[in-house]
Amino acid sequence: MEVVIVQDATAGGELIAETIAALLRRKRDALLGVATGSTPLPIYQALTGLVKSGAVDASGARIAQLDEYVGLPQGHPESYRSVVLREVVAPLGLSEESFLGPDGTAEDVAAACEAYDRALAEAGGVDLQLLGIGTDGHIGFNEPCSSLASRTRIKTLTRQTREDNARFFDSIDDVPHHVITQGIGTILEARHLILLATGEGKAEAVAQTVEGPVAALVPASALQLHPHATVVVDEAAASKL
Ligand code: GLP
Repeated sequence: MEVVIVQDATAGGELIAETIAALLRRKRDALLGVATGSTPLPIYQALTGLVKSGAVDASGARIAQLDEYVGLPQGHPESYRSVVLREVVAPLGLSEESFLGPDGTAEDVAAACEAYDRALAEAGGVDLQLLGIGTDGHIGFNEPCSSLASRTRIKTLTRQTREDNARFFDSIDDVPHHVITQGIGTILEARHLILLATGEGKAEAVAQTVEGPVAALVPASALQLHPHATVVVDEAAASKL
């Protein structure tokens, strides 16, 4: 695992955007796995800047979603589908056809999970998966104790994660209890993993991810098992390393 310490979130976003641009120059139709939350926004802003300045052509890129809430109505502004379309697909000038995501509105959620794992494989697998990290060490929505071999499936959120994500909703009562997430095993199949963590609130989770044992209690520690994993942290998130 490679750990890169940058000064702040903007520098982290720029560094990772350059890595994505380099991938797109090598592989026009690369499948880019994207994460939601506040942390990766500087990546998407920096990448959009590179595209607008002509430094990279992203028109062939394909985008894959990491996870999704279950049960939000179609088109809800905080569904991760809406967020990815708004923050990544639209700014990069891509069409919805370039976008793959699990169906959080499906009646048969288990079938939707299996269908998404199949769709990722049929698309040739994820070339580069971006990840954030929860304060409890989760990646995607794989909460502590998730199997390190897990596939895309339904999960129940912990109170902590619902509290962390309540800022995107009117109140914590509106945060769904259930989600679909790529499993840790699914995530590990991506060819390159890049986790970005910024701010002091992530310092403990980062320390356990990088320096602790590989353990289901800290899902992000599974990155230690991946042959090409990069952890980019700002100075605050690196403060317990
Ligand atoms: C959610 C998402 C994760 C994300 C995490 C941290 O739980 N499912 O993919 O990494 O939030 O979000 P933030 O970057 O806003 O701290």
